[in-house]
Amino acid sequence: MSTLAAVVLAAGKGTRMKSETPKVLFPVAGKPMLQHIVDTLSAAGVSETYVVVGYQAQQVKDSVHGDITWVEQRQQLGTGHALAQAATHLRDYSGDVLVLTGDIPLLSTESLAQLVETHRQDKNAATVLSAKVPEPRGYGRIVRAGNGRVEAITEERDATDKERAINEINSGAYCFNWRRVGPLLERLNTNNAQGEYYLTDIFSLLVLQGEHTGAYAVEDYKEVSGVNDRVQLAQVEREMRLRINYRLMRGGVTIVDPHTTWIDSQVRIGSETVIMPNTHVYGDSQIGDHCVLGPDTTLRSCQLGNAVSIRNSVAEEATIGPESNVGPFAYLRPGAEIGRGVRIGDFVEIKNSQIGDGSKVPHLTYVGDAQVGSKSNIGCGVITANYDGKTKHKTEIGDDVFIGSNSNLIAPVKVEDGAYVAAGSTITDSVPARALAIARSRQTVKADWRKRD
Ligand code: UD1
Ligand code: CA
Repeated sequence: MSTLAAVVLAAGKGTRMKSETPKVLFPVAGKPMLQHIVDTLSAAGVSETYVVVGYQAQQVKDSVHGDITWVEQRQQLGTGHALAQAATHLRDYSGDVLVLTGDIPLLSTESLAQLVETHRQDKNAATVLSAKVPEPRGYGRIVRAGNGRVEAITEERDATDKERAINEINSGAYCFNWRRVGPLLERLNTNNAQGEYYLTDIFSLLVLQGEHTGAYAVEDYKEVSGVNDRVQLAQVEREMRLRINYRLMRGGVTIVDPHTTWIDSQVRIGSETVIMPNTHVYGDSQIGDHCVLGPDTTLRSCQLGNAVSIRNSVAEEATIGPESNVGPFAYLRPGAEIGRGVRIGDFVEIKNSQIGDGSKVPHLTYVGDAQVGSKSNIGCGVITANYDGKTKHKTEIGDDVFIGSNSNLIAPVKVEDGAYVAAGSTITDSVPARALAIARSRQTVKADWRKRD
């Protein structure tokens, strides 16, 4: 694309959300709506992006990232007034400007490119991205002239019955020839039902001047669904999640049930990985090839190598090395670093600990603030007692160590390479390499004890 600037209108409170949080910061698939728009613009190759902020401006600026010039709109007097705030930055600009509202997160790079192409081919002064929808309520309607040109865009509240029956709506995205549109912004007025400066009035103003105005209608109307309340937020969320799943499936990931699989937009998943129903992958998680995730598994900001299998489990900020097997019912907490070919079994909790290659923690165990070497076996019911009520302490377990079932390791403590701990021991002192530690009282047997009763 030749020079193309973009302005995103994001100053409104989003009154219909009934929230303190500015509407454009509500997340969709784990990312603020406005961030989706900014990322789409950057993928579309725009040369400069202006974002108009007003309500909770600082919070918006802190939460959205990218190559953005922030523009302030102190009072929210309407979409036309919002764009006018960016005009000082664009005083010497003479190319095309994409203008988008901040609440249409599903909009694709392809549709934006089509909008710009139509705009340039038809030599329009202004082109609106429109859509034919089954339920146009709430949107501005595209009023076309006999020759197909856009004569006006009429807001629902200002529309006549005849106009309300039009099912082609304004998405809130436009391409403007800035030299034609810029000077008209100061001619907008507030003579409408909402008493606001409507950006949409630019179209009738241009027509009055004999300029060309047009529309590019997207094929898939869902792409331009606006989020104005929390019902629409849930609908857009659902649609976004399906799109993410379809993209992954086309890239070679099997998703057994796309309707119960939730994957955030930044997540990366390798090919031939299979995702079973009810699996959620959030944050900036990265999953290798040939993994099996789920069923009923939640991963947040996790890194998984190739051929990892994890089912019925929860993992957060954890790393799992290749060919490791986790679950069912494991809980990996932040800082869990699981090596290659490790087995983490049922009812095992691991926090801030390294588990070396080929080690096994098969059942009913808590490992916290520990370092476990390779090829060690942590028996059923083992606990690292890492907390003395004030401070956390470290447990060190070497390579090829065997910790017998139901043992307590009272940190700080060290069990060196090749050592054994007998089942049921409470270990308070370090165990040297290759030694056996037994720390329990010897069994007493009282013969014929039952005879007393
Ligand atoms: C707007 C369009 C409507 C279109 C719809 C698509 C106008 C007059 N109407 O209506 O034709 O069908 O979007 O979703 O433009 N904003 C500001 N400053 C303001 C007012 C709004 O920055 O003073 C921003 C908001 O933060 C929001 C966007 O502009 O991101 C749109 O505002 P909103 O109130 O949602 O407009 P709609 O009523 O949906
Ligand atoms: Ca809107």
